[in-house]
Amino acid sequence: MGKILVTGGTGFIGSHTCVALIRAGYQVVVADNLSHSKVESLARIQMITGKTPRFYQADMRDAEALRQVFLDHQIDGVIHFAGLKAVAESVEQPLAYYENNVYGTLQLLRVMEEYGCKKLVFSSSATVYGAENTAPYRENMETSAVNPYGQTKLMIEQILEDICQADDSWSIAALRYFNPIGAHESGLLGEDPSGIPTNLVPCIARTVMGKQNALPVYGKDYDTPDGTGIRDYVHVMDLAEGHIAALAEYTAKRTGFRTFNLGTGKGYSVLEVVQTYEKVCGKRIPLHTEARRNGDVAVSYADVTRAKEELKWEATAGLSRMCADSWRFICQNPRGLK
Ligand code: UD1
Repeated sequence: MGKILVTGGTGFIGSHTCVALIRAGYQVVVADNLSHSKVESLARIQMITGKTPRFYQADMRDAEALRQVFLDHQIDGVIHFAGLKAVAESVEQPLAYYENNVYGTLQLLRVMEEYGCKKLVFSSSATVYGAENTAPYRENMETSAVNPYGQTKLMIEQILEDICQADDSWSIAALRYFNPIGAHESGLLGEDPSGIPTNLVPCIARTVMGKQNALPVYGKDYDTPDGTGIRDYVHVMDLAEGHIAALAEYTAKRTGFRTFNLGTGKGYSVLEVVQTYEKVCGKRIPLHTEARRNGDVAVSYADVTRAKEELKWEATAGLSRMCADSWRFICQNPRGLK
């Protein structure tokens, strides 16, 4: 099976992926600077799996700290989640995004190369499809970025492709996530955003908890059946399994660079998500219509053919289960991962 380094392994998708890795029989080492996540994630991983990943509090920009991980462990492959991901913040602090995401990745790649570790699964985003394409998005469409966060994902994909071009012993899968939501079914692990959340489901949860009076609905005048934006929401545990599939079906078998969409292939509107959440939590969610949010597209969902055919991966959870799992985590952890 082997030993996998998970950067950003205490974050939302990273921690769920650690659970999936351990369950699949991998040994897991986590490196995270804890800037937006909590070390408590590791205790939760332990409660779910019976195993605690070996943990390094390390920043991706610190090559020496990364070297220590590779000195201590024979790492067979890396899943790289560590990075900043708030769109609006990236517009205000572009330098922080380029430093953490692009420079951090360069440092990681340099150290991986030094230690002869050339298998990587990278955490990319559907944001790379930009504003010009029409859903369903396919991996071979033109990519573009409308903010520094998106730029960092695009730049990193380009760097990874160039590395594979120059040295054919690298194997790199870039996974383009659609909208990850939900939580581990135990209610022990889930999304615990630092500060005030901006993504839809954490905002819904905040509203249900009475931490804000109403949920802002950003635009009811889109060209969609109910006028609100449509997204491809995918269960975080399905997403986690997508990484296991990328290791087993791609980096273990092939070399070169390849992108994969990870989504369900199905889109739901903001109002459909709200209605489903109301059903699972048994409460009404007050809404407040706001102007469209800068940079939002009307409709985004994946063409999932490539992941299905090449990774043999497919999402399984429907929207009700995603909302129910999210709500269970909120109820069990009203103050987050304390
Ligand atoms: C956002 C980012 C995207 C990033 C992804 C993962 C933007 C423009 N895009 O995707 O780059 O990869 O998060 O972190 O920020 N909505 C509301 N009310 C809310 C919150 C959201 O109506 O309080 C709507 C949005 O307008 C959108 C949908 O819900 O139609 C989903 O929003 P969100 O969860 O923020 O995801 P994306 O915008 O798709």
